Amino acid sequence: MSVLVVDFGAQYAQLIARRVREAHVFSEIVPASITADEVRARAPAAIILSGGPKSVYETPAPSLDPAIYQLGLPMLGICYGAQLMARQLGGEVGRTEAGEYGRTTVRRRGPSTLLDAWSEETTCWMSHGDAITAAPEGFTVTASSPGAPVAVMEDDARRRYAVQFHPEVVHTERGQALLARFLHDAAGIAPTWTNTSIIDEQVAAIRAQVGDAAVLCALSGGVDSAVAAALVVRAVGAQLTCVFVDTGLMRLGEGEQIEATFTEQFGVEFVHVKAQDRFFEALAGVVDPEVKRKVIGELFIREFEAVARELGAGGDGPRFLVQGTLYPDVIESGSGHAATIKSHHNVGGLPEDLAFELVEPLRTLFKDEVRHVGEELGLPEAIVWRQPFPGPGLGVRIVGEVTRERAEILRRADAVVVDEIRKAGLYRELWQSFAVLPAVRTVGVMGDGRTYAYPIVIRAVTSDDAMTADWARLPYDLVERIANRLIREVDGVNRVALDVTSKPPGTIEWE
Ligand code: XMP
Repeated sequence: MSVLVVDFGAQYAQLIARRVREAHVFSEIVPASITADEVRARAPAAIILSGGPKSVYETPAPSLDPAIYQLGLPMLGICYGAQLMARQLGGEVGRTEAGEYGRTTVRRRGPSTLLDAWSEETTCWMSHGDAITAAPEGFTVTASSPGAPVAVMEDDARRRYAVQFHPEVVHTERGQALLARFLHDAAGIAPTWTNTSIIDEQVAAIRAQVGDAAVLCALSGGVDSAVAAALVVRAVGAQLTCVFVDTGLMRLGEGEQIEATFTEQFGVEFVHVKAQDRFFEALAGVVDPEVKRKVIGELFIREFEAVARELGAGGDGPRFLVQGTLYPDVIESGSGHAATIKSHHNVGGLPEDLAFELVEPLRTLFKDEVRHVGEELGLPEAIVWRQPFPGPGLGVRIVGEVTRERAEILRRADAVVVDEIRKAGLYRELWQSFAVLPAVRTVGVMGDGRTYAYPIVIRAVTSDDAMTADWARLPYDLVERIANRLIREVDGVNRVALDVTSKPPGTIEWE
């Protein structure tokens, strides 16, 4: 039982889809160009029309195939989606004088399916210039705001509903309750989509896809590949081999922890490739960040390829490869772009005779859902809640040539930063927090002696999606503790700086 969220642009649809899932109903995002036939083929339980940045009067403004209204499905229009529904069903939408932006008081006007148990006045989040001025026939207006005479309209007989405000944002006081009323009461969809049901469904799908064939998985230490692998373990554990390539550029203890989890806890076949020497050799003299990425990415593929061939891939060995692709990487956006699939360094560049079929058990999930599934599967907290880490690892956090010595200093410095951030209870709140090593040396004095050593830069940011980020206002006493420990505990470091650059203009990583 799925709900289709029609995407009219600007990221609103993703948030709606996540809120629907929080109400334990599976949801999928579809482009505004979807036709009635395509909707029928998917047999959804309901349709939600998202907000969008356009006015219904602009040309071209995204529209909806009118035949979709004839399918008799429960529908909810939100903001732009509400106005579009009003207009397509014969109501009126007009330009209001000022529009409403931000917190707005909405007043109820009588009995309502969506607003059951709402008080007379509720704070909602609005963002509109146009407003519905007359509801189509069959609808009752059940709430208004100063700038939106039709803030909510409902047609119980046809199970069509529309709200001018955004129930998906947290600033709308009872927004989640409204979505739940629409899904469970108006549309009659049972709340059965849970972590357990996700796991059961994916386990069945993996078994159906791979049969009794052998499966290969490259673990990176990150959340996505670990959860994807854990699902495959649950489905066909005996057929799975996990490969972990240690590039010498991993975080402290990362490889050991992944190995312990997958061997001792899950009991799967595990190949731990200790490729540090080869990576440092390949990186000697390389200072350009893009060349560095390329060198690391290509060597990783060669290392992985060697293991795959040894295991018989391309012959009678593994035919399937596990990938931790997530839903945001496969969504078709409202702007009509085709799905773009993240080119992951594990797959891109493998030779043709190693053409694996991909097993992608996280393709329908958002990141937070992946973490919850991971917890449910019994992965340790330290893996499930680990902050994002770039594929090239510490390599792009050493500004300048990557050497074994610098990687070791940075690894130990990074562990200090993360340890203190964890102790301060900030690790999960921050998008990323780590150490950077610019390969310059500065003069210092310690005890009686002069030092000439590396600085460490503390980088900590908050973000929702890594597209933009703000530098984290770490408490000064925490910064002080980190700085003291770095200089005391990490040989080769004599100075500490704090990065106070947001993105833009900076990037999160230094390279
Ligand atoms: P930037 O530095 O561009 O990073 O603000 C945005 C997010 O992407 C991660 N990142 C990478 N991930 N390979 C990856 O897999 C890379 O080469 C890479 N570079 C940056 C970064 O950690 C942040 O979360």
